[in-house]
Order: sequence, then structure tokens, then C-alpha cells
Amino acid sequence: MLTMIFACDEQNAIGKDGDLPWRQSTDLQHFKRITLGGTIVMGRKTWESLPGILPNRRHLVMTRSIRKDVETVDFDDVLKLANTGEIFVIGGGEIYNLFLPHVQKIHRTIIHCEVENPDTFAPAISASEFAVASSEFVNKSDRDQFDMTFEMLERI
Ligand SMILES: NC(=O)c1ccc[n+]([C@@H]2O[C@H](COP(=O)([O-])OP(=O)(O)OC[C@H]3O[C@@H](n4cnc5c(N)ncnc54)[C@H](OP(=O)(O)O)[C@@H]3O)[C@@H](O)[C@H]2O)c1
Repeated sequence: MLTMIFACDEQNAIGKDGDLPWRQSTDLQHFKRITLGGTIVMGRKTWESLPGILPNRRHLVMTRSIRKDVETVDFDDVLKLANTGEIFVIGGGEIYNLFLPHVQKIHRTIIHCEVENPDTFAPAISASEFAVASSEFVNKSDRDQFDMTFEMLERI
């Protein structure tokens, strides 16, 4: 099964200048809680934006280049793996677009802000294809910039 996980602002923006456009420690903890022990798939640009390997997760990187420093996969590899267990699609914009038609579940965090001049967006999620199964508003802590809402959506 393919599960997508992303955080977006109120206009669906997810990135700016190759990085996350906010500092949201509570959302990073949420991401960790969901993906820990699992397999995460990401685009090469998201891989390069990470500080390093995220502990206790199998990392799969999509690229059209040959790389030796990380396990790389193509589209078909990911779909095959998704038949054997849950795979988390963790971004960025290109990779979310690629897999959305095959995704069963989406963890979406809405960061309650509007990023100025973002350059990367999450795909539009159609209400006729995905239903909100749970939604939880969370006030910002002193390690977050903004309030946020954790949502879980399931394919109808
Ligand atoms: N807010 C969030 O939840 C969140 C999550 C993740 C990322 N982000 C942000 O999103 C931005 C990065 O997203 P992005 O859209 O620019 O890049 P991306 O999706 O992370 O990576 C794009 C790269 O993936 C590879 N790729 C794409 N399609 C492929 C295919 N069909 N087969 C094989 N490889 C393929 C290519 O790598 P090569 O060029 O090497 O061939 C392409 O350049 C950053 O700002 C990051 O911080 C936000």
C-alpha cells in the first residue's frame, strides 16, 4: 500500500528554495511517529535536502542518475514494493504528483500560514477521491512557528 505524507500551507505550498518553508518541530515529530520503522520513498531533491539518513527507516531515492551513496528505485520498483507492505511517499512535489493516483492514504498537515513566494506545491487532493478520516487542530508549541492541523485522508 502507498501512503503519502506531507505538510502544506493554506495554499498547498510545501517548499521554497529546496527546503521546508517553516520550522515546525511538532510536525517533524508527527512525521517521525508515522514513518519510524518503515520504508520511505523520496525524490533526489528531497533526499539532498535532508540533514542525513533518518534513523530506523529504509530510504529509497528516485533519480534518473546512477548513485552509489543511496538505494535508488524507479516507478515500477515502488509499485511492486507497495504490493508487499506499506511504503511512505515523503516528497517532494514531483514525486507526490507521480504517485498520487496509486496512493490509498494521505497524512496531510496543514500549517496555518501562507508562505511568501513558494516554489513547490502538493498535488490537489480531490474531495471526490479522498475523504478526511480524522482531523486534529494543534496549537503551536514554543518550537513551532505556526498552529497546525493533522489530517488523515483515505481513498473513497
Ligand atoms: N512540506 C513537505 O511535506 C515536503 C516534503 C518533501 C519535500 N518538500 C520540499 O519539496 C521540495 C523538493 O521537491 P521537488 O518537486 O523540487 O523535487 P523532488 O520531488 O524531491 O525530486 C525531484 C527529482 O526526483 C527524480 N525523479 C522525478 N521523477 C522521477 C521518475 N519518474 N523516475 C526517476 N526519478 C525521478 C529526479 O531526480 P534526478 O534529477 O536526480 O534525475 C528529479 O529531479 C523541497 O523544497 C523540499 O523541501 C516538502
